[in-house]
Amino acid sequence: MSSSELLFNKIVIVGAGTMGRGIAQVCAMAGYTTILNDISTDTLAKAHKQIVSNLEKGVSKGKVSEETKTQALENLSLSENLVESIADADMVIEAVPELMDLKKRLLNTIDEHSPEHCIVGTNTSSLSIAELAESTSDASRVIGMHFFNPVHIMQLLEIVYAPDLTGNDVITATEEFAKSIGKTSILVKNAPGFATSRLGIALGMEAIRMLEEGVASAEDIDTAMVLGYKHPIGPLKLTDLVGLDVRMNIGTYLAEQLKNPAFEPPQLLKSLVEQGKLGKKSGEGFYRW
Ligand SMILES: NC(=O)c1ccc[n+]([C@@H]2O[C@H](COP(=O)([O-])OP(=O)(O)OC[C@H]3O[C@@H](n4cnc5c(N)ncnc54)[C@H](O)[C@@H]3O)[C@@H](O)[C@H]2O)c1
Repeated sequence: MSSSELLFNKIVIVGAGTMGRGIAQVCAMAGYTTILNDISTDTLAKAHKQIVSNLEKGVSKGKVSEETKTQALENLSLSENLVESIADADMVIEAVPELMDLKKRLLNTIDEHSPEHCIVGTNTSSLSIAELAESTSDASRVIGMHFFNPVHIMQLLEIVYAPDLTGNDVITATEEFAKSIGKTSILVKNAPGFATSRLGIALGMEAIRMLEEGVASAEDIDTAMVLGYKHPIGPLKLTDLVGLDVRMNIGTYLAEQLKNPAFEPPQLLKSLVEQGKLGKKSGEGFYRW
């Protein structure tokens, strides 16, 4: 994309972990002046190394041009000084751990030290956008920007707005921003699990209940969705990839928030987690890895 199509100039990504480094990569590739911020020097160095490696892989597969790689690396810089980085930012996207208090504290710092026009995005996968926004002095500029892992490959950006709080201009600009970085966005009202987790967890929990009841084997339940419904991956294998513990926690949270027992983690899931069978990361879940 040429710089004339960019919406603005400078984006700061806060948190250089799994998600932040991917978001920084796609912003820098799109031509934005991108600063990746973290409290850990070591994490920043690892993040930079991974971005370089992703870009090199892209070039070797013919998916990224040499010029885009060079430009992206020129557009990207690293920083441990948040206040200095955001002083002239047009958009800040936070991707720090999923802790309400941590995110609120961070949003307050961003609120205090960024220019008034700056859009404040949060990559939270579950926390209430309204609660986060209301903790700042200007709730209208806070918006959910839920990216998916790995960010440079996954096409979706789930934009989450809080009714009566998020500014319409902020929603429009965020939708335009999604296009500018080559993502397809969906617009979702702030509600537990947004659209993606709510649907994904409902399917995942039901698949586990079916396995528990002996309706079919794990392989056959997954094949049902892959071949019958054209899902790229079955719900049980997906749970193995995400982590059984992670999905169990989301299920518990949604069952409570939505007062819907369909989200309640089945006993089989709870016992696998208790046994340390957490999926791919532990070597076993519904499958052996
Ligand atoms: N991992 C996923 O698949 C995924 C997908 C979608 C959304 N999310 C959401 O994205 C967010 C980040 O998740 P992650 O998996 O990238 O986490 P992570 O643990 O990999 O990275 C978080 C980073 O934030 C840094 N950090 C902590 N406090 C900070 C501060 N005050 N200032 C600057 N940096 C700070 C940490 O050093 C760490 O590098 C969470 O809200 C999560 O729910 C995660």
